[in-house]
Amino acid sequence: MSTATDLPPALGEAARSYLEREHLLLIGDERRAAADGRTFTTEDPASGSVIATVPQAGEADVDAAVAAARDALEGDWAKLPAARRGRLIAALADAIEAHTVELAELEALDQGKPVTLARAVDVRATAAHFHYFSGWPTKISGDTLPVSQPNLFCYTRREPVGVCAQIIPWNFPLLMAAWKLGPALAAGCTSVLKPAEQTPLTALRLGELALEVGFPPGVINVLTGDGETGAALVAHPDVDKIAFTGSTAVGREIGAQAGRDLKRVTLELGGKSANIVLADADPAAAVRNAFQAIYFNSGQACNAGSRLFLPVERYDAVVAELAERAAATKLGPGLDPDTQLGPLVSAEQHDRVRGFVERGIADGAELLAGGSATPLGEDQSGHFFAPTLFSVTGDELEIAREEIFGPVLVASPYSSLEEVAMRANDSDYGLAAGVVTSDLSAAHRLAAMLKAGSVYINQWGLSDPSAPFGGFKASGVGREHGREGLESYLETKTVWVGL
Ligand code: NAI
Ligand code: MG
Repeated sequence: MSTATDLPPALGEAARSYLEREHLLLIGDERRAAADGRTFTTEDPASGSVIATVPQAGEADVDAAVAAARDALEGDWAKLPAARRGRLIAALADAIEAHTVELAELEALDQGKPVTLARAVDVRATAAHFHYFSGWPTKISGDTLPVSQPNLFCYTRREPVGVCAQIIPWNFPLLMAAWKLGPALAAGCTSVLKPAEQTPLTALRLGELALEVGFPPGVINVLTGDGETGAALVAHPDVDKIAFTGSTAVGREIGAQAGRDLKRVTLELGGKSANIVLADADPAAAVRNAFQAIYFNSGQACNAGSRLFLPVERYDAVVAELAERAAATKLGPGLDPDTQLGPLVSAEQHDRVRGFVERGIADGAELLAGGSATPLGEDQSGHFFAPTLFSVTGDELEIAREEIFGPVLVASPYSSLEEVAMRANDSDYGLAAGVVTSDLSAAHRLAAMLKAGSVYINQWGLSDPSAPFGGFKASGVGREHGREGLESYLETKTVWVGL
């Protein structure tokens, strides 16, 4: 537990009093310590100070949480009429809205992101996600099938896939919890949710709010812990489906294990998304778009536009403008309302990003902005990293191929539409791609050519609970959001009735 004096003065009363409480696992209707008593701490990435201690769930806790989820699945939750299930999800959305300030501050403090962004994007989209999925339970239905055989009645039922292990990352902690829980709850599944070890707080708070609004115990269980906890959940024989967002490396392992166990699995993984500016584009709009695409959330977004392709004749002007904007960006702690870019989430992530940047420089890429850790003062030990811009001529360098997951943009000139489409697609990843142009025909031709799960034209990164999101190639398996997202939490049962 923290003491009030450790916490930044900018923190409001609700978030402060939450932080000062004891943090415990949520299993069924119980809040409890890890069975073996282990704990870990979470820090404020803007200062490196510890803000809370949380339990490190081990195998016994995973067993207990999965058992609670199984009991709920086969008990109270299964008996609830669909309309009532929808009402509960809507009540959770309302509770999130009612706790906007508290949740936004907790996110800003634990994750590092600007509180203004946490409020306007993370918390708002979380509530919107639950509101959207609250409408689905009453619309899930099977079909009556026109089978050829006489005297038969054949129909399908859509049933919840079962107990879900939902493992989420640290870049949008609360929102990722909503992306996982929304469709699972709508489908009638139960969940064991494991937030990332860097950002455990808002998921725990969300689990409490769910109990408060009346979810039956065991429908949502929250286990804080690291990759070991996640691996124990994935391996648990009584888990029916795994939903994971995180690194491609861990996603491959989870996919392999799920394949062996024949568990349902959806994976949202990394990206190296290409943002393509066409020659007709308004340069100011291109700069705004490219800036938002990469530096939003300090580049810690799976769909970050981390490769920028510019027409050779516009290249120098656009990169100069971008470098200037990057250099003028105000870095600071998330709780400071003037902060434009927060710190990276952890020292580990900071080291990883710095490593990529140093190797990029050593490999001969031209550095146009940033490129360094930026201490904000003598007593600052936060994980700040300046918005960075590289210029390269080809696509061979590591910085142009690997996901960096930090505020690092790699720009490169191109000459023709065919060339740029080929280069954009020359990646193991396929999460997103973008085009900036007012030439509608070129935009739609490119949208068809680009191998990516989302194509953004004249904007970057918009998301909506109704719009499928997910990756081609190594960026993942399956889609979240919308009907498709819901489907991945449903099994189809075909019933044959002899008449
Ligand atoms: P990670 O993939 O290790 O962690 C994501 C989540 O998976 C966390 O909850 C973690 O505890 C859990 N986890 C880790 N190992 C596991 C295992 N063996 N089995 C089950 N669960 C496991 O990602 P990490 O180390 O935090 O970040 C590394 C890189 O991954 C980043 O630099 C970035 O490139 C990428 N990443 C991508 C994200 C995305 O949204 N696509 C989100 C976070 C990271
Ligand atoms: Mg933290």
